[in-house]
Amino acid sequence: MSLIKDKYERVIDYMRISITDRCNLRCVYCMPADGIKPVDFRNILSYEEIVRIVKTGVKLGVRKVRITGGEPLIRKNLPYLIKEINNIDGIEDISITTNGLLLKQYVRQLVDAGLKRVNISLDSLRPERYSEITRGGDIKKVFEGIQEAEAVGLTPIKINMVPIRGFNDDEIEEFAKITMKTAYHIRFIEFMPIGSREIWSREKYISSEELRQRVSEVAPLMPLKIRRSGPARYYGFENAPGCIGFISPITHHFCNTCNRLRLTSDGKLRPCLFSETEIDLKSALRNGASDEEVERLLRLAVEIKPEGHSINHEKSFDHLKPMSKIGG
Ligand code: GTP
Ligand code: 5AD
Ligand code: SF4
Repeated sequence: MSLIKDKYERVIDYMRISITDRCNLRCVYCMPADGIKPVDFRNILSYEEIVRIVKTGVKLGVRKVRITGGEPLIRKNLPYLIKEINNIDGIEDISITTNGLLLKQYVRQLVDAGLKRVNISLDSLRPERYSEITRGGDIKKVFEGIQEAEAVGLTPIKINMVPIRGFNDDEIEEFAKITMKTAYHIRFIEFMPIGSREIWSREKYISSEELRQRVSEVAPLMPLKIRRSGPARYYGFENAPGCIGFISPITHHFCNTCNRLRLTSDGKLRPCLFSETEIDLKSALRNGASDEEVERLLRLAVEIKPEGHSINHEKSFDHLKPMSKIGG
């Protein structure tokens, strides 16, 4: 089995693939109310192109694939793509990150196609507030989707919440308590200064340390060792079936263990969420690149993967592409 390491000895075995930059929600921190001009569909990678890229990635050592968006479930025939990727020899894990609205409708087909896990973005547990944050989302659909995902065995269910001061941070404790009753992973993500700047401000951002402090006032929190390299650090309440993760892109760079490459929906390879350098795989594919050439470009992305990023709350990240275009 092949294995590819970058200059900093990080094993790159994970590819995050954004299959669309469109979304059926307009979360206030992610998009402006009237959305972001989407990429013309002709410039979006076809499933065949994506599969070709993943096959090449597997030759180098990619073992895990995560499908993201925008909202991945709005793209037609996603089960077909999942099936094709799952059929590639060497793929061990295939998952999606979704807002969950369409999950109930598609989850069985996705599991039949080989989907292993699902991460769901949910920033409030209150119907009215959820609708406000997402500009119109129906929380009932998300809850139904989560239940269905659990029923078909897509576990562990991970829920991502972005706490924003004065907005939804009064629900942190409530979210944490979910882990006392269910085996879900509740993960709090530090609010990053990218995406729509309508609401980001230094005051609204809450550090993982502060979050952990607040959660530990609910009940004593113990650090957990969860095997699986990912950006979250996990904790749990005593005897709780679920666990609580903190994803701290701002205060704790997890760059030294970063195992991923990103592919944007318009076919650009991104060595890092924050890198401005992209490798244009789409043009290469559409200009008739050989398998060797595709492999060379993937190796190049690994080679130029930066050691880390310097995102913090002082610096402006207005020049960065929105998350919906990069894939979170
Ligand atoms: P698993 O741990 O494999 O379940 O997935 P994951 O946590 O990598 O995936 P998910 O899509 O749920 O990621 C949650 C959030 O973590 C993303 O939306 C980002 O906000 C953040 N994140 C994930 N990967 C990176 C990364 O490489 N760099 C930074 N800064 N943030 C990341
Ligand atoms: N800061 C932190 N997380 C963000 N996401 C989108 N924009 C931001 C941001 N500015 C998260 C979503 C979702 C994931 C795909 O990315 O909440 O969980
Ligand atoms: Fe859509 Fe996710 Fe952005 Fe919300 S955060 S608008 S669900 S892409």
